[in-house]
This record gives sequence, C-alpha cells and structure tokens, in this order.
Amino acid sequence: METVVITGANRGIGLGLVQEFLAKNTRVIAGCRHPEKATALSELAKNAALEILPLDVADEATVSNFIASLANTPVDILINNAGTLGGDKQSANSMDYDAWAEAFAINTIAPFRLTIGLLANLKKSSRPRVISVSSQMGSLAGEGTGHYAYRSSKAALNKVMRGLAAELKPEGILLCPIHPGWVKTDMGGANAAISVAQSAAGIYKLIDTLTEAKSGHFLAWDGEELPW
Ligand SMILES: NC(=O)c1ccc[n+]([C@@H]2O[C@H](COP(=O)([O-])OP(=O)(O)OC[C@H]3O[C@@H](n4cnc5c(N)ncnc54)[C@H](OP(=O)(O)O)[C@@H]3O)[C@@H](O)[C@H]2O)c1
Repeated sequence: METVVITGANRGIGLGLVQEFLAKNTRVIAGCRHPEKATALSELAKNAALEILPLDVADEATVSNFIASLANTPVDILINNAGTLGGDKQSANSMDYDAWAEAFAINTIAPFRLTIGLLANLKKSSRPRVISVSSQMGSLAGEGTGHYAYRSSKAALNKVMRGLAAELKPEGILLCPIHPGWVKTDMGGANAAISVAQSAAGIYKLIDTLTEAKSGHFLAWDGEELPW
C-alpha cells in the first residue's frame, strides 16, 4: 500500500484528494492546522488508512514536529496543497504587504521546506513523487493583472519545483507543479468550472501515471502541459 502526505487536507481540494486516495486504497497522512475542528476529515478517519496530524505549513515548529512524527515512514507521494490567495488588497492601488509575505511563506517557502524535510522518507519509496499545487495564475506566459501576491508566490513556486526536479532527478524523485483547474472551493468560488471530485480524480491519475519524462513540467489536472 502506498502512502501519500497531503497538506491543507481539511477542506477544498485537499479534502477531495484525501477522499480520492482513500478510495484508491492508499494510506493517507493528512496535515491540517486545526485537527480538532476538521470534522469532515475526522469523519473520514473512521477509515484506518487515514491519519490526521497538526500542520501549519508556515510555522517552522509545527512543520518540524510533523516531519519528526513521520520518522522512518516511507512516503511515496507528497502533495503540497495548502495555499492562500494572499489577502483582499493585491492591486496597483492597494497592497497588503504583510499578506503578500504570508502568501510567500505558505505558497512558496513551505512546499520547499516540506519537500526537503521529507526527503529521507521519500527516499524510502520505490517510486517517490512530489506534487505542488500551483496555479495557472502564476504562469509568466499569462497576461492577467492584479492578484500580485498570489501570482508571484505561485510563479516562484513553479521555479522552485522546476529546480528541485532537476536537482533530485539523480535520487529518482519526480516533482511537478500542477494547476488543479478552476475548482468549486472556498478559494475558487461557486462559479468555478469543475468540482472538487473532478479535480481530485484528475490529479490522482496524473500522479499515478507520472513518468520521469514529465518530471519538472508544469501540468494541469487533466494532464495538459502548461506554459511556464
Ligand atoms: N480552487 C481553485 O480554483 C484553485 C485554482 C488554482 C490553484 N488552487 C490551489 O489549490 C490549492 C487548494 O486550494 P483550495 O481551492 O482547496 O483552497 P481553500 O478551499 O481555500 O483551502 C485552502 C486549504 O489550505 C489550507 N491552508 C492555508 N494556509 C495554511 C497553512 N498555513 N498551513 C496549513 N494549511 C493551510 C487551508 O486550511 P484552513 O482551513 O486552516 O484555512 C485549507 O485546507 C491551493 O494551493 C490553491 O492555491 C486552487
């Protein structure tokens, strides 16, 4: 049985990924900021294959505790899913700089820290993969404006993941930043194009079929190759 670690697992795409991987007989280690409030996740934990651990990806101490509690556990798949939009003020007229810094901590720095922190666990797998949930809004090829905190933190995430994919290739670890689609969640809103279940099923397939040839590429939930 493979083991997947999923961050931001209590709602939205993260929760959908937990459900998808449990349905596919994968052991799930779900990180979330407040396990005691994660009622949907706790309900799923009646399935013995799910373990819930406290994890605030922007807090170094809880990240260290999370990594320490996984000592000696082989991790086949790490999904850096936790993310933030980065506040309401993100335009040329009005910018919340603290929220921008927080967006970098959560969206860019945390996926790097967790990937490096779990390297020993990933190396215990015969097929290690790291997926970081990025966004098409971070593509430098796009011409969209506004949402500068979000866009820049995801663009930087893409660069970090592309670099790590090359650096960790000799270790046999596959890494990709992915776009999950425009998904009906608190972040994506009710008018989004696809459901959480659709996105999660697509991401599962992408991860399940990921090969070295696609490692370091920017892929969408349906497998489409995206421009950087
Ligand atoms: N929905 C879309 O259309 C869309 C499109 C492109 C990319 N994405 C990306 O997909 C990922 C998931 O988004 P979503 O739509 O599911 O968003 P969401 O519904 O807003 O959920 C965000 C998740 O991230 C968690 N999180 C935020 N900050 C965290 C922290 N410091 N430590 C741990 N967990 C933290 C949240 O936990 P709390 O409940 O504790 O806040 C929540 O579980 C994000 O990376 C997002 O940028 C989403």
